Amino acid sequence: MRLGIIGTGRIGRMHVENALALGGDHLGSGHLGGSSVEVVVADAYRPSAEAAGRDFGVTVAADVDDLLARGIDGVVIAGPTGAHAELILSSLRAGLPVFCEKPLTPTSAQSMELLEDIERMSGVVQIGHQRRFDAGYLAAKAAFDAGELGWIHSLDAVTADQLPPSIDFIKTSGGLFRDCSVHDFDIIAWLTGRRIVEVFARGSNNGDPAIKEAGDVDTAIALMTLADGTLATATATRFNGAGHDTRLEVRGSKQTLAVGLDDSAALKSAEPGATFPTGAPPTVFQQRFAAAYRAELVAFCRLIRGEIENPCTPAESIVASRVADAAQESLETGRPVRI
Ligand SMILES: NC(=O)c1ccc[n+]([C@@H]2O[C@H](COP(=O)([O-])OP(=O)(O)OC[C@H]3O[C@@H](n4cnc5c(N)ncnc54)[C@H](O)[C@@H]3O)[C@@H](O)[C@H]2O)c1
Repeated sequence: MRLGIIGTGRIGRMHVENALALGGDHLGSGHLGGSSVEVVVADAYRPSAEAAGRDFGVTVAADVDDLLARGIDGVVIAGPTGAHAELILSSLRAGLPVFCEKPLTPTSAQSMELLEDIERMSGVVQIGHQRRFDAGYLAAKAAFDAGELGWIHSLDAVTADQLPPSIDFIKTSGGLFRDCSVHDFDIIAWLTGRRIVEVFARGSNNGDPAIKEAGDVDTAIALMTLADGTLATATATRFNGAGHDTRLEVRGSKQTLAVGLDDSAALKSAEPGATFPTGAPPTVFQQRFAAAYRAELVAFCRLIRGEIENPCTPAESIVASRVADAAQESLETGRPVRI
């Protein structure tokens, strides 16, 4: 298997490392049946691709066109969100299946246009919502599907980064809802199988003033109503000193499940005598979801081989992007937004 990886920034470098490790026996559920993966990289900023080439010993293409002509089996797109559409279309024109990082494009309107092109070309595009491959979210979904939680009255999702990404990244991210909470919007709809029909959002800027100057908030909460009236919240922040904290509580009439509440959870109990959790919390999302990121790449390799159905389609990702757009609109107008 030969993968082309476009964009060798934060997440692209992680995908390179993960791709090279696929096929190893140590990966548990993240293994690829013994076959190894070769990687070719390209980046609009050539020194970045060359650094990845040196650091990981992979082939460096001169540019995207060169990468697409290198006899690869599939393309991983890890460039900035604004470049996804063009990179997806170039890859599909080259006849290649695509794994693209979320969100598909900066807005759901642009994604709908792109979806038409993808469907016209019968393109195979998997979107990178890695939570769908995380053991905790999968277990919560299985329990929900089996009826173990009873009827669900509320869900609370949290995505809390310890430190913000660069201001340059924030400017191109589409904002906190489209960048971070979009994962929670996706997972709430995926887990419950229900549409999010209304969102009311608020944000704040008590951290770095540069984030406000870049037009974004550093902390935000979206209150959502699902199609059957169930309530859910998604909280996101760029300044969570305790560590990277991504969790979900799903509360039902029979049982409540907490995803991400293990010994490395980035919080402390205020109760006297409570010692849990005792482990070191992750500091970055790459640690929190290390196994899930490997598993989604294994899934992509299996999708390329035609062994599985697409585990996260562009159409599904647009459902989450619509909620992110609505949350952004609510933040800007101060009013609830119907979807
Ligand atoms: N799934 C997740 O958890 C997750 C986490 C972080 C980022 N992301 C997504 O991954 C994407 C990249 O984020 P990042 O944090 O790695 O950004 P980054 O800025 O660190 O890296 C982006 C890289 O793409 C390169 N680039 C820019 N334009 C390009 C083009 N037209 N062609 C090829 N390369 C180009 C840049 O030079 C840079 O090296 C974004 O869409 C982001 O939303 C997903």
